[in-house]
Amino acid sequence: MAFNNTPSRVKLIDVGPRDGLQNEKQPVPAAVKIELVHRLQAAGLKEIEVTSYVSPKWVPQMADNHEVMSGVQRRPGVAYSVLTPNLKGYESAVLDKPDEIVVFGAASEAFSQKNINCSIAESIERFAPVVEAALAQGIKVRGAMSCTVGCPYEGEISPERVGYLAGLMKGIGVQRVDVADTIGVGTPRKVQAAIEATLPHFGIDHISGHFHDTYGQALSNTLAALELGVWNFQSSVAGLGGCPYAKGATGNVATEDVVYLLHGMGIDTGIDLDALVDAGAYISVQLGRSTGSRVARALLAKRAG
Ligand code: HMG
Ligand code: MG
Repeated sequence: MAFNNTPSRVKLIDVGPRDGLQNEKQPVPAAVKIELVHRLQAAGLKEIEVTSYVSPKWVPQMADNHEVMSGVQRRPGVAYSVLTPNLKGYESAVLDKPDEIVVFGAASEAFSQKNINCSIAESIERFAPVVEAALAQGIKVRGAMSCTVGCPYEGEISPERVGYLAGLMKGIGVQRVDVADTIGVGTPRKVQAAIEATLPHFGIDHISGHFHDTYGQALSNTLAALELGVWNFQSSVAGLGGCPYAKGATGNVATEDVVYLLHGMGIDTGIDLDALVDAGAYISVQLGRSTGSRVARALLAKRAG
């Protein structure tokens, strides 16, 4: 296989502190989340999704958003993003000075209802003033598009639905979007179709791939997206996570696994894989479980041997 269109560098957003930890049943102290962010930035991550400003009744694990954001010792050149579903969330978030806020919608009506308690159309109405306020205050705006391949409630999602959502996001001023396979059911051609449906609205530089690894397809899907020229991806250190409103879905593809893939293909990430493995080992010990990253497991075994 030729891999003619792959980019020479890739930017990874580690979403572990947010997407990874939001679903943890056990309390994770803010100090541990802060230390995780510190270790990720020390490993060379230039974008980190730190937390979300959502209802603490819906997602208790993110209730310490302010403590975490204000505890992070920021590094120049690193962008810190947070999720804001509505103006209430935005107003809290802005006090903590994020570099980017994320509004999060879904290509599936049922998922939109379960996740943020409103229809797709209503979600866009809620996001519009958030986007407007952020842009006016010089804060970047990303739009997460969930269920772009499949939905836990509706099943398969057509690319047309993805294009429709991408158009709505563009219409309210969102600057870039994530094509998310929330439940990790996608396979390469389906993921490419979701990206292609987004392209009329956002250029390739403004599309990121966000692939959960439930069915073990996330690395293949990453490769398929790379082939289309996508060079922004989201991943979770140690493969942490899952969405509270997508039962059974596992975490994002592990950042360590994506870095190993990219470096092996000669694609630059600016990330130190050894330091990243250490960051993943740190959070895995804190959570009392082994890492979800195959690469980390292999490298840790090699070190031990
Ligand atoms: P709602 O109940 O419809 O909101 O929830 P409401 O406006 O009717 O308010 C109800 C109560 O919530 C009120 O409090 C509000 O003040 C409070 P009360 O008077 O009852 O005490 N409230 C808030 N509190 C804190 N922060 C806020 C906020 N807004 C209202 N921002 C809402 C709507 C969106 C808030 C709710 O549905 C929610 O918090 N959902 C959480 C969704 C979430 O975090 N999901 C996981 C992240 S998405 C994801 O993981 C997918 C992604 O990774 C991509 C992918 O993989 O697909 C991004
Ligand atoms: Mg996700």
